[in-house]
Parts: sequence; C-alpha cells; structure tokens
Amino acid sequence: MTAPHHALNAPVSLPDDSLAAAGQELAEAAWIDVIQRMDEVYSELVASQETLETKHRELAEAHHFTEGVLAAMTDVLVVCDTVGKVRQVNRAMLQLTGHAESELVGRELAELVEDSQARSQIATLLAAGRSDVQDVEIALPRQQGEPVPVTWNVSPLYDGEGRYSGFVAVGRPIGELKRAYAQLQAAHQALKSAQAQLVQAEKMASLGRLVAGVAHELNNPISFVLGNAHAMQRYAGKLTRYLNAIHAHDLSAENQALRIELKIDRLIADLPSLSAGLMEGAERSGHIVDALKRFSAVEENTRQRVDLADLTQRALHWVSRAAPFRVEVINTGLDAPAWVCGSANQLQQVLVNLIQNAFDAIEKTMKPRLELSITRQAQSVELQLHDNGSGISEEALPLIFDPFFTTKPIGKGTGLGLSISYGIVERHGGMLSAANLPQGGACFTLSLPAFKD
Ligand SMILES: Nc1ncnc2c1ncn2[C@@H]1O[C@H](COP(=O)(O)OP(=O)(O)OP(=O)(O)O)[C@@H](O)[C@H]1O
Ligand SMILES: [Mg+2]
Repeated sequence: MTAPHHALNAPVSLPDDSLAAAGQELAEAAWIDVIQRMDEVYSELVASQETLETKHRELAEAHHFTEGVLAAMTDVLVVCDTVGKVRQVNRAMLQLTGHAESELVGRELAELVEDSQARSQIATLLAAGRSDVQDVEIALPRQQGEPVPVTWNVSPLYDGEGRYSGFVAVGRPIGELKRAYAQLQAAHQALKSAQAQLVQAEKMASLGRLVAGVAHELNNPISFVLGNAHAMQRYAGKLTRYLNAIHAHDLSAENQALRIELKIDRLIADLPSLSAGLMEGAERSGHIVDALKRFSAVEENTRQRVDLADLTQRALHWVSRAAPFRVEVINTGLDAPAWVCGSANQLQQVLVNLIQNAFDAIEKTMKPRLELSITRQAQSVELQLHDNGSGISEEALPLIFDPFFTTKPIGKGTGLGLSISYGIVERHGGMLSAANLPQGGACFTLSLPAFKD
C-alpha cells in the first residue's frame, strides 16, 4: 500500500492520458492488495473461529466428563472455599442428604451438621487448613431418617496459580458397614453366650444325673431309718410305761443301785424328746431325698392331681426367701386348692421361673409389688402374675419364649427359663402367654387343664 501511495504523490511529469492510465493502474493494484489482505484476515478469522469452536467443544466435553465422574461417584463430595462455605456438591451428596443443590451450595459446612461435636470437628478441619485430614467420622443429617455416619477424607484445593482456595471433602457413608458390624458383634455375642449356656446346660444335665444317683442310693437307707425310727418311738413309749410300772414297786437294793448308776430315770425322761428328734431328722432326710429326686426329674408322671395354689405358694416362698428385698405380694384365690392335672415337679419349675422373672423385673422398682390370682373354670385353672416392674419392651415381647433370649447380664440369666416353661405348659395341654399392663409392668397368664377324677 505504501508504494502506490508514494507513487501517487511523486512529482512526475507525464502526458495527461498516460497519467490517467497510470493512476488507474495504481488504484487497481491497491484494490487487489486490499482484497488480498482482507482475504487473508478473513481466513485467519475463520481459522481462529474453528480453533475456538474446537477448544469450546473440548472444554464442554471435559466439563461433561468431570460432571459424569462426579455424578457416578458413590462417595459424597463437598467442595468448600477457604472459610468453609460450600461451593459444589455431587449427586451422591444430594441423594444422601435429601437436599436440593441450591439448599446446600453457599451454606456454611458447619450448618449442615447437627450436633456440637460434629461442629467442633469441622472447626478443627478448617483450622487444619492446607493439610490433608483422613478418616474423620462426622454424621450427616438427612431430610428424612436418622443421620448417616460418614468417614471423610479432606484435601486442600489450589487454583490455577497455585493459591490455596479451599478444600475438597470426600466422604463414604458407613451406616451399612456399621450396621453389619453391629449385627456381626451381636451374632458373635449370641454365639458366645449360647456356647456358655450349652456348657451350663450340659453341666446341669450331668449334675442332674449325679443327683439322681445320690438320691437313689440314699433312698433305701433313709426309708429304713425312717421305718425303724417309727418302731423305736413306739417301743420307747412301751418301755417307759413298763419301767414306770416296775419302779412303782420296791426294788431290791441291787436293782436300785443299778437304777441310780445307769441314770435310768433321766434316760426315761429324755426318751420322748430323743425319739422325737430322731423322727424329725429321719423325716427331714426323707424330704431332702424327695427334693433331690424332683430336681433330677426322676419323677416324670404328668397325670397327677396337683394343687396349683399350693405349688404357687411354695414357689413364692422359695423365691422370696432368696431375694434380698421385700415385695408386697397380693394373693387372690390361693387359699383354697386349685386342682390341675400334671407333674408337680415340672409345674413347680414353671412357677419358680415366672415368679423369679417377676422378682428380677421389680428389683429396682420403688415399691415392688406382685399380684398372684387364681381363677377356677370348669375345664381349666388360670393363674395370673402381675408385677409392677418395667414391663417387656415391644421388641422383646415376641422373643421372650425363644431359647436363650435374655435381657439379663451374662451369668444372671440363661434365657432358657421361659422356653422350658412354655414347653412344659404345652405338654400339659395348657397355655402360657405374656403381655404388658396398661399401668406398667408385665402380666403372665398360665392356664392348665383342671383335674377331673
Ligand atoms: N416379669 C417380667 N418383666 C419384664 N421382663 C420379663 C419378665 N419375665 C421375663 N421377662 C423377659 O424375658 C426374658 C426371658 O426370660 P427367661 O425366663 O426365658 O430367661 P431369663 O430370666 O433371662 O434367664 P433364666 O430364666 O434362664 O435365668 C428375660 O430376660 C426378660 O427380658
Ligand atoms: Mg427366667
């Protein structure tokens, strides 16, 4: 462009025609030059436009890719600025918390958690600033449901120029894991206690066999001690009468001396209490052997006539004797016999367990009370036990008759009491059920077939 411009201004002397022609030529050349330049600029523009479009496409793809990766992450992601304000969250975070993105972005991270402990953990995270933090457990509250425990790994975030611009927190919900772990723990505990209980049950069975053997061995000698003691008591009475009759007459000096030497008068005076003591001891030994036989379940007859009222009183007596606290007991209908059909030994076991359970339940009650009432119907006899303990929880209610189900500490309860009792009552053709009372406390109902001759 400069050259023709310079040529136009140069003082050249030419004829008019040729001057005009030369000017036209120069103008054309200038135009061609201009057009060529425009062409060049245009194609440069087109090329830049294409490059821009390619870059834009690449950028959009990269953006989609990042978005896709974030959306596909099952771990939750929260990006915060330097003061802990949420800048971005991923889909997993929205799904887990049940919040919309707009409800989370722009809020302080500390506002998203509930308890003060979690807030102070977040404050520590913010204070940690540019260092990585790993495996911090902070629960995230949800729109609906319980907060979810999440373990977080936090890393600092730097911008393109290497300046610290916040942090990225990636969290993994561990609720399922925790639940599974808790279930595993519970199963392990149950297995351990079942094992201990089986060992205990086996011990009890061996003890039962041992006791049955001892009871069997003792049975014979005790019965003849008892039989002979009866005979001795009778003989002692007769001998006393005879001696008293002789002593009514004068004895020879020799016999009188012997009477004094052998302290016969004192012996005669002692005889009644001696024989009574002998009888009592023999009878008590007999009762002990009976109890041992009952314990080892030698007696298996389930068709006896049994007084449920008497059995209940006896069970109550034994349980309350062993209890270290006083219980107000209200009895209704226990003063007259209530005849049922069954095994006294097995029913005793049921009653002791029911009463013992009630005592365990009211141990910590301010004014422990137990109501026992018997109602007699044509075909059955029903015993109800109401206590004023804490009652049975809704979760436990369907489980209490399961073997090994117990809420008592290891060593206190085996969880076999109600399951054995249930089995016994069922074999007797009766029913055993449990419920909670509206005023609090548990209510057990035992129903057994009435005895008919
Ligand atoms: N009167 C009651 N009040 C509240 N809970 C009770 C009552 N009776 C039974 N239960 C519940 O039922 C559970 C099972 O009772 P069960 O008699 O079978 O076993 P246990 O008493 O725990 O142990 P064991 O009888 O072998 O010593 C108890 O652990 C307790 O949680
Ligand atoms: Mg029990």
